[in-house]
Amino acid sequence: MELVTERLRLRMWRDEDLEALVALDSDPEVMRFIRDGSTRDRAQVTASFALLRQNWADRGYGLFATELVGSGELVGWVGITVPNFLPEILPAVEIGWRLGRAHWGHGYATEAARAVMAFGFDEVRLDRIVSICHPDNHASRHVMTKLGMAFDRRTTVPAHGGAVDVTAITRQEYAAARGDAGQRRTASTRGGGTSRRPAAATRPPADRC
Ligand SMILES: CC(C)(COP(=O)(O)OP(=O)(O)OC[C@H]1O[C@@H](n2cnc3c(N)ncnc32)[C@H](O)[C@@H]1OP(=O)(O)O)[C@@H](O)C(=O)NCCC(=O)NCCS
Repeated sequence: MELVTERLRLRMWRDEDLEALVALDSDPEVMRFIRDGSTRDRAQVTASFALLRQNWADRGYGLFATELVGSGELVGWVGITVPNFLPEILPAVEIGWRLGRAHWGHGYATEAARAVMAFGFDEVRLDRIVSICHPDNHASRHVMTKLGMAFDRRTTVPAHGGAVDVTAITRQEYAAARGDAGQRRTASTRGGGTSRRPAAATRPPADRC
């Protein structure tokens, strides 16, 4: 499975991506609005790296390794997953993003997320996609707005007691916003293309808000 946009390639994970993920999650600025704001060590990242690959195998969707088309440099990840850390909104599928600081401010999160949202609605056949962020994470919240996601609720994450804002978009809202019946692609899709229902949330949460 691979999605290609104008500037980005969203692909499956390789063993060598682990080092970039360790660097990503050890940056306090990147992790500032994630969970309780703490960074993560190599052992923690290694565990969630295995889990995120397993999630792809179990569900047929997940977080995409996201790299620059030209250089192949990994900028971070964008994808969809089950927000098990927030039981009150389940069942749900969440779109999320985490990029290295050097790559912020270029529109990459929005560009990649548009492709992932199309994948979620067109290929996975989701009926609704949510997104969740810390109330002060204005960049992330702005990406949600650009994607057409509307405020759903402010609530608290049970595991750490922190506040989060939930936004959402339905299949109908998504189709109306792009002016068709939900058929048009916003990125080329390789190696997939079959319609499937999302599998049930059978695994513990990955490293999310
Ligand atoms: C959130 C994140 C993915 C955004 O990535 P990005 O590629 O810079 O995002 P984009 O450029 O596509 O869009 C960001 C938008 O927010 C705006 N923005 C950035 N910082 C902002 C701020 N402090 N206040 C308001 N808007 C802000 C940008 O101007 C841009 O809007 P524009 O296109 O209208 O100018 C990136 O900052 C990141 O990885 N942060 C750390 C991890 C994280 O917090 N992930 C989300 C957890 S919920």
